[in-house]
Amino acid sequence: MASALEWGSRGRQFKSVRPDQIILNMQTVNIGLIGFGTIGKGVVKILCNKQALLSEKLGVNLALKFVCDQDITTSRGVSLEKDILTTDVSKVLCDPQIQVVIELIGGIQPAKDFILKALENKKYVITANKALLAECGDEIFAAAYANGVDVYFEASVGGGIPVIKALREGLISNKVKSIYSIINGTSNYILSMMSQQGCDFKTSLKQAQDKGYAEKDPDLDINGLDSAHKIAILSRMCFRQKIEFKDIFVQGISNIALDDIRYAEELEFKIKLLAIAKQNEEYLDVRVHPAFLPKKHLLSNVEGVFNAVFINTDLAGEMLFYGRGAGELPTASAVVSDFCDIVKRLSLPQALDQQDVDLKARIKKVSTITDISTRYYIRFLAVDEPGVLAKIANILGRLRISIHSVMQKGRRQSGVPIVMMTHKAKEADVQEALIQMNSLNVIKAAPVVIRIEDGE
Ligand code: HSE
Repeated sequence: MASALEWGSRGRQFKSVRPDQIILNMQTVNIGLIGFGTIGKGVVKILCNKQALLSEKLGVNLALKFVCDQDITTSRGVSLEKDILTTDVSKVLCDPQIQVVIELIGGIQPAKDFILKALENKKYVITANKALLAECGDEIFAAAYANGVDVYFEASVGGGIPVIKALREGLISNKVKSIYSIINGTSNYILSMMSQQGCDFKTSLKQAQDKGYAEKDPDLDINGLDSAHKIAILSRMCFRQKIEFKDIFVQGISNIALDDIRYAEELEFKIKLLAIAKQNEEYLDVRVHPAFLPKKHLLSNVEGVFNAVFINTDLAGEMLFYGRGAGELPTASAVVSDFCDIVKRLSLPQALDQQDVDLKARIKKVSTITDISTRYYIRFLAVDEPGVLAKIANILGRLRISIHSVMQKGRRQSGVPIVMMTHKAKEADVQEALIQMNSLNVIKAAPVVIRIEDGE
């Protein structure tokens, strides 16, 4: 395999299809990538680092044949062999060996022409281009249909959250009643920084830009247009009705001041930039604007770059999709996920069968409960007399279980309820402690233990 990629900064060698990772007798899907920016770089990293995993799961080898960008000299921390990097987009669009074109330059033109050309040349297209799909989706999908190929766009909405796939497949028999969403990571990051740290608007925006969340033109993020593009895509999928993008009401967050955020807090609300889509008998209600949300609403707790899409459907009811809505690897992860559908469409022998292969050869032991370490809540009923706690502390201390807090919860005829929280301890030690505590005559009933999980 000629095409090689190198992790320039560390000098580690990667190949687009590493010879040691090629699965023999497996077909290869050739890919052309247009746009070597933040997300493009993430896609290159995933295609290199996850080559073996992807081949195994997809049943094909994925080979990056060309990466095209106007700027092929600036270092991205990944360096590509000379014959992969190109400024000539026709190499990607017209190479008969390339079956999949990934478009990551964004904006309407020239992305639209590139995608139409790729489709005309019977190539499947993966894109994260929400503006293009929202404004010209009908034309793009019609061109794909006419050419017997398709356009996949998981990365266009919600960054790393697989919400498109969930709507397309998981909820196929559902009628969507409403969507309430936070789908712009940059504006949510800004509102969170203002609310949590009292940062001003400009500083928060600068931070979002530095983290690679914002669009090239960050006005799109803060004036609500990026959210509007995304809700237009979701509406098209959910309601299957043509809407004019210009009919969507869009208001951004540039007028929100620190004072508004403080007043909202005092009133037990949060301010969030919401993208809403609902349908009733007469019309579709599709809009983007900042809104007061009660603090206890699930969406109020979506902070920073996180996105969330709260969907209500007729069969499955309410559900929440939550995850990182922007950034290099989350968005690149969504881009690469589209290969699952493409491989199916390419009808390659073996493809995807590998996902369900017999795993007997890879049996791995499941841990027993005594292998875990966590924090514990322990409640017991004790005799109310001097020295009881000392006896218990002595047992715990000998077993290296550190106490975080102890509370005596009043006094009953039957004894005094005592509640303890421990620091992280070994389950095996805690079980031994319980046996020893139980045998003390000052303990009046078997202690109740509940493991504390912080979800990390
Ligand atoms: N600028 C976008 C955002 C990137 O902040 O959500 C992901 O589409």
